Amino acid sequence: MHPGFSKRVSDTMDSFIMGLVEVAARPGMVSFATGLPDNSLFDVDGLRRAVDDVLTDDSASALQYDCPNGYIPLRQRIAERCSRVLCVDVGYENIIMTNGSQECFDQLGKMFLDRGDGMIVENPGYLGAIQSFSAYGPDFDGVDVGPDGVDTEQLSVALEKGPKMFYSIPNYQNPSGFSYSAGVRREVADLIADSGCLMIEDDAYGELGYRGRVNKVMKSMVPDDIVLTGSFSKTISPGMRVGWMVIPDWMVGSASKCLESSSLQSNTFCQRVIDRFLAENDYDRFLDGLRRGYESKRDIFLDAMEDSLPDCMQWNRPDGGMFIWLRSPEGSDAMRIHEVALERGLVTMPGRPFHVRGGSNTLRLNFATPSEDQILDGMRILGSACRDVLGI
Ligand SMILES: Cc1ncc(COP(=O)(O)O)c(C=O)c1O
Repeated sequence: MHPGFSKRVSDTMDSFIMGLVEVAARPGMVSFATGLPDNSLFDVDGLRRAVDDVLTDDSASALQYDCPNGYIPLRQRIAERCSRVLCVDVGYENIIMTNGSQECFDQLGKMFLDRGDGMIVENPGYLGAIQSFSAYGPDFDGVDVGPDGVDTEQLSVALEKGPKMFYSIPNYQNPSGFSYSAGVRREVADLIADSGCLMIEDDAYGELGYRGRVNKVMKSMVPDDIVLTGSFSKTISPGMRVGWMVIPDWMVGSASKCLESSSLQSNTFCQRVIDRFLAENDYDRFLDGLRRGYESKRDIFLDAMEDSLPDCMQWNRPDGGMFIWLRSPEGSDAMRIHEVALERGLVTMPGRPFHVRGGSNTLRLNFATPSEDQILDGMRILGSACRDVLGI
């Protein structure tokens, strides 16, 4: 006999993603499936120096417990970047460090959601975050996202139902690669202001715009009603698990209490290493290198798509981030394309699990992780799977 699991565990949605990470790691597989950064773009030497310097100069305090909300100099650095680059005027007290930005979603769910509360998510939306919120039993309401961003008419109707939160990715969305246009941002800001609904603006890919930061972050438009989440996972290293949320003053006390009760504090050793890395390197130059690297990967990937995929397939050309959204003709089954490609050695990510409704004819493709040779091999497999499934 074992005790029964809590309702929270049975409410937590299964993740399609992690199963595919294991399949993708098998020898000989090509993967367009996961959201992993390109290994060759990690600055291993810079991080080695930073680790060494932290341990040489600061070993006693670096290995000790630290502030529950995170290492203060790094929070100051992030607050300074928020003010200078994002036009979000905050002090370090408004920056709460977390173990990756994924932990922000769990903390926000814990802070705001009771079973049956309304929560708006994008359709399609980022499955990892939705899985995290699902543990708190909200009623999800999906608003469609297209090439210019969220459908503001649907958002307006959804907000009338009095939801607690709206989770969004305005920049280079996972899974679609879509971004909100300037007009959509303005409309969303007007809808959110004083609506009583807290918007979560997930900016995991915001620094990876190939032309830099083109659009305003939404937090700069309605600072009191938006939590901005950020991460060093897609720029410096996901394994170090350093993320943060930028919260309004009215949330600071509750956010600290919730985080402390979960983990006492996040990983301040890695926060110190990243702070040192940022002090010793020109971050903007480093980001420019990443942007150029990912942009050229995108171009190779798009050329290979042009060469290998049948004409009936459609896709977008993202200006940043790591994902391309592939659509097969309306009514066709992209899950079948995924399965046939898998049998032939290519892992893709079906789009259906990212949807509250619809999406059966979509696939998410990550162009950041595979090498150039893998892109060419994988795309030939994908082309043959599309042709065989669609009977072309
Ligand atoms: C849109 C988005 N948000 C958040 C995360 C979580 O990242 P991390 O916890 O590594 O910061 C991911 C990871 O892939 C993501 O794609």
